Amino acid sequence: MQLTDMEKAILDGSEGDARAHAMDLLVRYGKALGAERLVDTNNVCGGFVGALPGRRDLLPPVPAGEERDMDAVYSLLNLDSDRRLEIPPVKAMTYRLIDAMDPDKAEIQRVSAESQQVSRDVGKFCGKVGINQCNTCTPYQIGNVPVMGEHCAWMESSAVIYINSVIGARTNVEGAHSASAAALVGKIPYWGYHTLEGRRGTHLIEIDYPVESMLEWGLLGYWIGEKVKNEVPVLTGIHSPPNPNKLKHFGAAAASSGGVEMYHIVGVTPEARSIEDAFRDNPVKDKLRFGKAELEEAYSWFSTATDRDVDFVVIGCPHASLEQVRLVAQLLDGKKLSPSSNLWIFTPKALKAMADRVGYTKAIEAAGAHLMSDSCSALSKVYPEGVKVAATDSCKQAHYLPAILKFQTWLGSTEQCVNAALTGKWSGGLESHKDAGKLVAPGALQ
Ligand code: F3S
Repeated sequence: MQLTDMEKAILDGSEGDARAHAMDLLVRYGKALGAERLVDTNNVCGGFVGALPGRRDLLPPVPAGEERDMDAVYSLLNLDSDRRLEIPPVKAMTYRLIDAMDPDKAEIQRVSAESQQVSRDVGKFCGKVGINQCNTCTPYQIGNVPVMGEHCAWMESSAVIYINSVIGARTNVEGAHSASAAALVGKIPYWGYHTLEGRRGTHLIEIDYPVESMLEWGLLGYWIGEKVKNEVPVLTGIHSPPNPNKLKHFGAAAASSGGVEMYHIVGVTPEARSIEDAFRDNPVKDKLRFGKAELEEAYSWFSTATDRDVDFVVIGCPHASLEQVRLVAQLLDGKKLSPSSNLWIFTPKALKAMADRVGYTKAIEAAGAHLMSDSCSALSKVYPEGVKVAATDSCKQAHYLPAILKFQTWLGSTEQCVNAALTGKWSGGLESHKDAGKLVAPGALQ
């Protein structure tokens, strides 16, 4: 791999052990991927492996009476170093992704005292080294919006596909180690979606159905991911341009079922002014058609639940926008959840503050539901006690809830899910979801 003099100097220790180790990690990673060089990045979104519930066993023990040695934790879990390194401030603008809990809802989320302490320790460390604690899977909803062509080093598949496709920024799906190393040295291997060649379309998807609602956009994404796996689909024939909420759900679903990291929608996304623009001389590997039958096929993949007694509704995967929170507040306003059900909505902390200000939180909580931040059920493994049957408006969450938390899971529109929480019964479905949409006030999403 070709390194600049400055990169070589960092590798040789000119900026200390931790940055030398981070550079070495990136060089080894880049060589394994066939990258010829590194590229500068000033935009990193990463995660703390030790902060997630499933990885707590990896945390080094804390000697009695002492504070957790977070430099040792970061060395081991984020930089893969058995040797304790003194961690310097980050060089690149770095945002932290999802946490294991919402500190304001720890009791409701049933988070142990030990886990709460880990979250506080990680938070303190973030402050020390300069990592912004956005604690959301949607940094682009709260101000971290890269510019077109900007090289980034982001984890979180739903965020990666969004900034690659909708914004035209450039990132691969990084892991905790590569993102953490990138934060320290401001470099990432130049390969994959950083290159123009890697961003070219591979499959043409002809849309032959008026895909409109959030649910339909999610199902379209899920179907495409299942068909093209980790390639680059190019969509034509869109009837009406989707808004950012729909693209968020579409991308998250495509990344869940198939590992899609980038797509083009002709006439909508910035690198697809035409079909030729999107493929840029790349041969079309396959042409697929998406119509009503394919929409129904995608919905059928989620139709595994049998018990209609819904005891948990999850909304906000990826984290909900303010408009989505507003919709739920409207649907719940003046009503009460069924005593046998729960409804949790996840949104970034910054948007929760705005929802508090305009009264959405009050309407939601008055109904017995909870507006939460920093976490999500599937990844943070937080849920009410005794849950057996869930409902969600997110294909991504519906993909993960049965696999990770073993819940039977219904998929429907936001209205159908809220209705399930109000009645304790599932009565939704693909056919009826547009009728439900008619109940929503003008300006809402569906
Ligand atoms: Fe976000 Fe991933 Fe959870 S998209 S809501 S962190 S499953």
